[in-house]
Amino acid sequence: MQVLIVGMGALGGTIAARAIQAGLPVRLAARSADSAAALRRSGLRVSGIGGVARADAIDVAAIEEYGPGDRFDLILLATKAQDALEIAPRVMGLLAPHGVILPIQNGGVARVLADRLGEERILGGFSNLGATMVEPGVYEQKNAGHLLIGELAGGVSERVEWVAHILGRAIEVKVSANLTGAIWSKLLINCSVTTLGALCSQTMRQYMETEAGKKVFRRTYQEALSVALASGIRLERLAVDPIPPGWPSRLAAEERYESWVEAVIAFYGDVKPSMLQDFERGRKTEVDFINGYVVTSGRASGVPVPMNTTIADVVHQIERGALQPTRERMYELADQACEPTLGSRS
Ligand SMILES: NC(=O)c1ccc[n+]([C@@H]2O[C@H](COP(=O)([O-])OP(=O)(O)OC[C@H]3O[C@@H](n4cnc5c(N)ncnc54)[C@H](OP(=O)(O)O)[C@@H]3O)[C@@H](O)[C@H]2O)c1
Repeated sequence: MQVLIVGMGALGGTIAARAIQAGLPVRLAARSADSAAALRRSGLRVSGIGGVARADAIDVAAIEEYGPGDRFDLILLATKAQDALEIAPRVMGLLAPHGVILPIQNGGVARVLADRLGEERILGGFSNLGATMVEPGVYEQKNAGHLLIGELAGGVSERVEWVAHILGRAIEVKVSANLTGAIWSKLLINCSVTTLGALCSQTMRQYMETEAGKKVFRRTYQEALSVALASGIRLERLAVDPIPPGWPSRLAAEERYESWVEAVIAFYGDVKPSMLQDFERGRKTEVDFINGYVVTSGRASGVPVPMNTTIADVVHQIERGALQPTRERMYELADQACEPTLGSRS
């Protein structure tokens, strides 16, 4: 049995260090020969939640150095979304006969890969485990989270249980029989809590102090929820119920909606949005797989998605340096937020 972890950033490095320390047969792929050589010299170290793990002797190479002689039963893609899409077709040839690729990015990545490469080779997964990279080879685990994995078609298969068993020796792994529902439930949070926070450079708790923030959050979330339901997704409860009380009736007591919002804020409201960190580092974001994925899916299922379309566009403008993330973004978005079309289809 051989495992390849691709991407030695925050999550890949943390999982790799814990996997190697646990004695798993893990090989690693970095972006370039130079970064692989640097990692060979430094080894891997993780601290923080979950304790210290250290891997001094690591088997790491640049991704293009892996070839026909290498065969893996599991390839864990721990890069950003756009890199995962590029890498997956290239590493297909490295899979053993029953080998699988496990992408762990948020949003639409696993579904897009399965559509392109086949569900028989692609599992679904995402991370509730939070980690940062202090410097190459040095990582900090930020919470006691887990990987949630499963079959995109639903149900629990032997291969998913096998992957959970293997990776579970290193980190906490849970299996979902409704992984696609769980991916969408997290996507609803990502496209509202995370992206909106990034656009206005605030946490959700901060932007929800303004009427503009409340209005834009509600519109963004409800649009994405309409898309999910119209696409036939059976949403999975994560930290909070993905469906606000009374949905889709406009007559639902506001009080109950407000307490649902409070529950969302209590769980997600104080986290610095990861997309804001991308802006700060001048990196491309994953918005195409978050709000952009809602837009694509909305168009496919005939659900209007004007707010998510605008949000994705604003994020692209910030990436290009044409706009900056500021509080005023929320007021501009609120001006564009007409009344929510609850559960409606065009
Ligand atoms: N970190 C978290 O706490 C967390 C939590 C939940 C979900 N996620 C998701 O997990 C994914 C990974 O996140 P992350 O924070 O670990 O990202 P990250 O720190 O940016 O790590 C990504 C790594 O992939 C490497 N990479 C890019 N292209 C590659 C290639 N062609 N071959 C080999 N390696 C390549 C990057 O190398 P370079 O540095 O050279 O580009 C980088 O080391 C993202 O989708 C993120 O949204 C992360």
